Amino acid sequence: MSDSTIARHDAYMTINYGRYPIVMQRGEGCRLWDTTGKAYLDLFSGFGAGLLGHCHPDIVKAITEQAQTLWHVGNLMHTEPQTRLAQAIAKHGFDGRSYFCHAGADANEAALKLARLYGKGKRHKIISTLGSFHGRSFGTMPATGQDKVRQGFEPLTPGYTHVPYNDLPAVEKAIDPQTVVVLVEPIQGEGGIIMPTPDYLPGLRALCDQHDLLLICDEVWTGGGRTGQYFAHQHWNIVPDIMTLAKGVGGGLPVGIMCAHRRVADLFDYRVNGGVAHASTLGGNCLSMAVGAAIFEVLERDNLVARATTLGQQIYAKLKPLIGNGITEIRGKGLFLGIELPPAPGSSENAPGTPGTPGPDIVNQCMERGLLINATQNTVLRLAPPLTISDAELDEGLAILKDVICSQ
Ligand SMILES: Cc1ncc(COP(=O)(O)O)c(C=O)c1O
Repeated sequence: MSDSTIARHDAYMTINYGRYPIVMQRGEGCRLWDTTGKAYLDLFSGFGAGLLGHCHPDIVKAITEQAQTLWHVGNLMHTEPQTRLAQAIAKHGFDGRSYFCHAGADANEAALKLARLYGKGKRHKIISTLGSFHGRSFGTMPATGQDKVRQGFEPLTPGYTHVPYNDLPAVEKAIDPQTVVVLVEPIQGEGGIIMPTPDYLPGLRALCDQHDLLLICDEVWTGGGRTGQYFAHQHWNIVPDIMTLAKGVGGGLPVGIMCAHRRVADLFDYRVNGGVAHASTLGGNCLSMAVGAAIFEVLERDNLVARATTLGQQIYAKLKPLIGNGITEIRGKGLFLGIELPPAPGSSENAPGTPGTPGPDIVNQCMERGLLINATQNTVLRLAPPLTISDAELDEGLAILKDVICSQ
């Protein structure tokens, strides 16, 4: 079956992802099984989307009940699941209004369109950071601060400037009379789990206030409790004007959310705007919304956000002895962690995609031993397990990981 799945994939699908020759068949909790029956312990949750693991019973119940009740009516009517999810985000976040769509890029597009309205036709420029990732759509690709994402798609939409992450003077210097937005990840994810310095986000908030700019926190990776706060900006006691969410808040279903402070969100108000400013036919469909709302209920009921902090500290304590002994640094917060590896011998830097690069090599060896982790930027291992992982499962995964790192 797996051969035929892969053969048919190769025949009928675009080959835009480099995939392992594995066909995954079933998931339960933190485990996955492929079609040969091999089991995997999942410490990456499908790029963070499986926030509560695979087929969590409460989420299965929520989606099953919703599937038997109502799927979709379109946004000309109200539905309870949408309202419930929006309310949960405001409860755990800030005094904002939510707009629902399907993905992280989609949510950032909405945020950037809202910012255009804020600029009132006079200001449209966006400052984002080098090494960032904000999506691959025509509005978000130019914001993404990685050349490899943009190459081949020029000409890019104009109006974007990139500054080094953690460099407040560079932001200040980049601001011009047409600037309207600073877009930033509270913790850079795809860029290699790069942490902000303690003054960075408060400094950005202050600069935005000073120059009347909107601060957009892209919380597509970090939102939903993964870092030990419901939303990562809360670690630094700031409130953005807009935050964008996806991945974990959908638990594996396509959900994108743009939550804007109400004074900004009101620019999307059709009564103020004189018509519909932005829309998505299936955005806010009942199935995705019921799942999103149930996820926030489980996070709160089971105290999983605090647990993310505890487990993150446990991981750090267990891997710390390897610093200087196979790894160079451990970064991150809660269950969003990056493990920096030394570059391959003989090179100070590993060019993207080079075979024999430390990160992908370790990922492959872990996978052979039934452990799923990820590597980004070639020398950073990423761990983003489900928040529901047990101590025993975590120990099992870390034992394999340590063994693999030590055998390099
Ligand atoms: C911080 C951040 N923003 C936006 C995106 C784009 O999200 P999506 O792939 O759901 O469009 C990603 C994807 O990895 C991301 O990490």
